[in-house]
Amino acid sequence: MVTILDGKKLKEKISEDLKRKLDKFPIKPTLVVILVGENPASKIYVNNKKKTAEKLGINSQVINYPSNVTEEELLNKIDELNNDKTVTAILVQLPLPEHISKENIMNAICPRKDVDGFTPYNFGKLFSGETPTVYPCTPKGILLLLDEYKIELEGRHAVIVGRSNIVGRPLSQMLLDRNATVTVCHSKTKNLTEITKTADILISAVGKNIIEGKMLKSDCVVVDVGIFKDANGKTRGDVDFESVSQIASYLSPVPGGIGPMTITSLMLNTVELFEKFS
Ligand code: GUN
Repeated sequence: MVTILDGKKLKEKISEDLKRKLDKFPIKPTLVVILVGENPASKIYVNNKKKTAEKLGINSQVINYPSNVTEEELLNKIDELNNDKTVTAILVQLPLPEHISKENIMNAICPRKDVDGFTPYNFGKLFSGETPTVYPCTPKGILLLLDEYKIELEGRHAVIVGRSNIVGRPLSQMLLDRNATVTVCHSKTKNLTEITKTADILISAVGKNIIEGKMLKSDCVVVDVGIFKDANGKTRGDVDFESVSQIASYLSPVPGGIGPMTITSLMLNTVELFEKFS
């Protein structure tokens, strides 16, 4: 029988502890989110982040820009936020429009306010085996959820499908730090099933329904990071729930798995930055 990795439940548990802690702070952290353009998924994510922050007692502000905003305008705003002592955490929602250099934007955020852990400083720390100011939210949420269910990582083969900067790449390093053996697969990987069949833990972060039960070995732990709407408007993940739940020992659902954990990690990171640097 498969055990569901319940991210929604763990979010509630962590949020209760976090709220109790925040209630004792005389001054609250302030998270500023920059949202560029009209990407519907980004709008939903940002709205959820703001709502969760407000419930916990974290000050939050969303700054909206039209998709034709210039890079210079964004850089000026980031500079202003970096120098504003009342702002303790900055997040620039990705993706950004193509005319804006993501690298330049990430590079501009002060690492002490880098609540995503995406600045070159923090990425460099992570990839050199050092401790960044905070860990990227989605990988952090995945590890919190696996730890909650006491899933052993050391010595186990973790296969990640997807090599994005938001999930696959940072997660590979964080799993290495936990002594897992890590394989990263991507769109050019040959014989994907040959590799996924050897996974003790499979994490898929692609945004397409690609993982079926027949690609996995018995009792594999499966983490579904993908989230998208199918042709009927139904929210789906990368994993075919029906077939995978027949073979996996643990499985994170979509929705209710990694999504809530990503937001929880963002809240934890906001508080961590505040405690470290304010
Ligand atoms: N877009 C999708 N996920 C994320 C995330 O974790 N952080 C940011 N900044 N943008 C995202």
